Amino acid sequence: MLVKGPASPLLCKRLENKIDVETTEVKTKVFPDGEIYVKLEGDVQDRDCTLVQTTYPNRHLLELFMIQNALKENGAASIKVIVPYYAYGRQDTIFDNGEAISAKAFAKRIGVEADEFCSVDLHSEEIVDFFDIPAQNVSAMTKLAEHSMEVKDPDLLIAPDEGAKDVVKEAALSVGLEWDYLEKTRIDANTVEIKPKNIDVEGKSAVILDDIIATGGTMTEAAEQLKGSGAEEVHAGCTHGLFVDDAEHRLDSACDTVFCTDTIEQEKSEVSVATLLVDEIV
Ligand code: R5P
Repeated sequence: MLVKGPASPLLCKRLENKIDVETTEVKTKVFPDGEIYVKLEGDVQDRDCTLVQTTYPNRHLLELFMIQNALKENGAASIKVIVPYYAYGRQDTIFDNGEAISAKAFAKRIGVEADEFCSVDLHSEEIVDFFDIPAQNVSAMTKLAEHSMEVKDPDLLIAPDEGAKDVVKEAALSVGLEWDYLEKTRIDANTVEIKPKNIDVEGKSAVILDDIIATGGTMTEAAEQLKGSGAEEVHAGCTHGLFVDDAEHRLDSACDTVFCTDTIEQEKSEVSVATLLVDEIV
């Protein structure tokens, strides 16, 4: 049974259209004091259930835990949790003494009332090891690269930093495009230079791909650098489009177009991860 988490209605609909599976809706409401209520509409007793629920913004994380509990308490035979966007993934280690490892804390909590876990483009591959249940990470980067080829017709793909280098390289190779990444070089105490490491972008069309766009700061800076290096067109794509505050406005002025997937449902969700997740349900 597909349990349609309230955070992912469009993705759940797309999944439902692709597979012959029984589904249940989840009713939610917020009490006057801000507390959240969830109720499974269908009967999950003795059913193998797959819950799809993304975790941005914060309230959807709370809903996730409560729906897992509802499944457990109402007798689901097994619970698979698909979290298209796994929030808190960027805090995956102690960077400064005294910090929590949020990516680990939530992995442990999810594992208490689930048998399996799956996500899309976790911020780091190591996060799967935080789970005490079988966990896997699927990547949407190739899908983003294919979409770029169809709609943007770029000359190359660019990773905005070294962290995104490997996934962008893999995506570029899968569609036969050139790729590069932006490298920061410190010129002196007050000056850094950011430019493509190997490739001259003069007169070219580039798509920058990253896992997350949050404030848009990384993408905006990357796009401005590429334009400054003579790129003719710069498009920005990501798996998880959070678009915090005025991110879309900033991005729209720096990039020719901006697109993301439906792991977080946005106006710019031009790419669906449904085909990547179908196999996780059937
Ligand atoms: C960072 O490690 C991530 O891969 C993204 O580059 C980052 O989260 C983007 O954040 P923002 O849009 O706020 O610059």
